[in-house]
Amino acid sequence: MKIYIDGKFYPKEMAKVSVFDHGYLYGDGIYETLRAYGGKVFKLDEHIARLKQSASLMEMTLPLDDNGFVKAITDTIRENALGDAYVRITVSRGEGEIGLDPALCPKPTLVIIAKEFKDYPSEMREQGIRVTVTKTRRNHPECIDPAIKSTNFLNNIFAKVEAKKAGSHEGIMLNHSGFVAEGTVSNVFIVRRGALLTPPVLSGILVGVTRSVVMGLAAAMGVEASEEPFTEIEMRQADEVFITNTTMEVMPVTVVDGTKVADGRPGALTKKLSAAYTEEVARCLKAH
Ligand code: PDD
Repeated sequence: MKIYIDGKFYPKEMAKVSVFDHGYLYGDGIYETLRAYGGKVFKLDEHIARLKQSASLMEMTLPLDDNGFVKAITDTIRENALGDAYVRITVSRGEGEIGLDPALCPKPTLVIIAKEFKDYPSEMREQGIRVTVTKTRRNHPECIDPAIKSTNFLNNIFAKVEAKKAGSHEGIMLNHSGFVAEGTVSNVFIVRRGALLTPPVLSGILVGVTRSVVMGLAAAMGVEASEEPFTEIEMRQADEVFITNTTMEVMPVTVVDGTKVADGRPGALTKKLSAAYTEEVARCLKAH
């Protein structure tokens, strides 16, 4: 495995960043998770746009421009001879003296890891997953804005630990007002009387690339799809629940806090959107 660090490739064992990197010292950094199919990254431009948005929200200057990122990512996939790949870009504030001031770090550190994509067990997709609504609330947007895909991930880690203790695959976090916000690494959707609902951006969420694709697919199918707040009770009583992210794509949720969603099987619209997502990936990559 070859890891990209600041323009050079290193074998995994040699791929190291400084203990003075503020990413390590303070969790001061941002990241993106991307997925390549047959060597081509799905929605690459959208991921780069979100990385830029994260950087701008934390006043960080990125070390590369758009073309530079495209080249670095494709080079990393090629260097590792990968087809279906998981790609992780991390940009930390960089190496600097100890102290909170980002000005102590003259240049950010860019790391790109690409490895073979290992899909989730097929029974998760076929039977759906279990989720737990966690006591840990999603960060208030006026504290650490969830719109920043930050390496400062303790909020989500606390929720993940709770979910794991409860025997669930994913933890669903409520926002500061008690409405459903998002999963620890995913966005949440419910289906109610044939209509699709997902929490609005103002709920304090990361605007998922997969979420946007799914909203577009639903609209193209003529399904009513809206960004609307809903409670955990409404989620439990929904006809269908699913979560989305780059690696899970559309993942059915069949148990919430130990109780079955509807009949406890992946719902019809969830399955339709999941199939449409697979087709969309194929269509986009062919056109690429
Ligand atoms: N996580 N919300 C949070 C908090 C996330 O961390 C993610 C993605 C999403 C979904 O975003 P997208 O559809 O763009 O993947 C929503 C990635 C997969 C991760 O942490 O590795």
